[in-house]
Amino acid sequence: MYINFWYPIIRSEDLSMDKPEKVKVLGVNLVAFRSEDGTAAVLSDTCVHRGGSLGGAWSAGPAVPRLVNNCVVCPYHGWEFGADGECKNIPSIGYGTKPPARAKVDAYPTEERYGIVFAFLGDLPEEERPPLLNVEEYDDPKWRANSVLVLDIDYYYERSIENALDPAHNEFVHPTHGFTAMNRDTYHVRDYDVEDHMQGWGMWFMHRFEAPPLKKENWGDTRTEAGDLWAGSGTYGPNTVATYINPSPDMGFRQYFFEQPVDETRTRIFFLNMRNFMLDPKHDGPIHARNKEIAKQDIDIMGHVYPTQTPISNTKEVLMPADKAIVAYREWLEKFDNAGWRIDLEEFNRRNGKDTAFAIPSPARRTSKNWVIESIPLVANRDERKLSKVS
Ligand code: FES
Ligand SMILES: [Fe+2]
Repeated sequence: MYINFWYPIIRSEDLSMDKPEKVKVLGVNLVAFRSEDGTAAVLSDTCVHRGGSLGGAWSAGPAVPRLVNNCVVCPYHGWEFGADGECKNIPSIGYGTKPPARAKVDAYPTEERYGIVFAFLGDLPEEERPPLLNVEEYDDPKWRANSVLVLDIDYYYERSIENALDPAHNEFVHPTHGFTAMNRDTYHVRDYDVEDHMQGWGMWFMHRFEAPPLKKENWGDTRTEAGDLWAGSGTYGPNTVATYINPSPDMGFRQYFFEQPVDETRTRIFFLNMRNFMLDPKHDGPIHARNKEIAKQDIDIMGHVYPTQTPISNTKEVLMPADKAIVAYREWLEKFDNAGWRIDLEEFNRRNGKDTAFAIPSPARRTSKNWVIESIPLVANRDERKLSKVS
């Protein structure tokens, strides 16, 4: 898991105006809430007073609101934190008395797009940050978006991303795709080329499947001849994968998985499905149902893959030419390792939640001092990661 990328935090529709929400991302607790103008804020969840959870349970009920004057209120002793992470009021010293400078928590840049609240979880200054992925079809009237589907899975997000990049699993995992009439005499995965992603932070490939003709009951009146189906995928940063499926030259799905690594063993996928055919909203429900069914087929397989994380070396698996998109993704991860953005999970797991709380460092850590919550431990580069594994 890596800092310094945009992560989906919560669906827009799940973040109300009157209640904060606690969310775990990258192994660390966060709180999301809305200011009075509706702008979403995302902060580190651990209160610097004595460890209360800013988004946690609230026993006082409606008599004591959770959000006051654009601040989230700690449910333990009522300290009020603004969207900038600074404590504005400490009731025990009197409302309006200036809190000490150390009374602050990390606050993360946020953007709300595609029906999702995203936060930049890291400390890079704005000019150095990878931008949030631009979904270019989103505002194009020729395309229609399904509402965001949330999928909770019990495996590591990198395994999930690799599964989306895998052109050799469809015939075995997805009977819904209609490929099961595979011919053993001629079958193989065609060669494909991997390129760098056009938005600069990952890899991309398109690949031609042998596919039967489209079935009218699945695809409406838009029928094509038997033959080839083009599909491909690309990554953006460590946690976003886009899949293009072109059942015919004029028909396209664009499927975006914005993945939220909850921790090492759990992932929440925010799935945005775009299409340029069957634009009538009446097709949204059946498309959702079909996507859920396909996702379940993947989840059933992936829940048993072992080890749960990808091995540190490709020599621990027997990779084939069809796996080269996966190798390209791992090469991008190595770049992120060498930027120093990988979380040191061994150190984190050794100390987290016992006598130590960690926070993802926010951009303000570059310009101000006196942070009470310790910054999450990071691995300096890929070599250090290898050394720590063998020692
Ligand atoms: S622990 Fe948050 S106000 Fe005391
Ligand atoms: Fe799949």
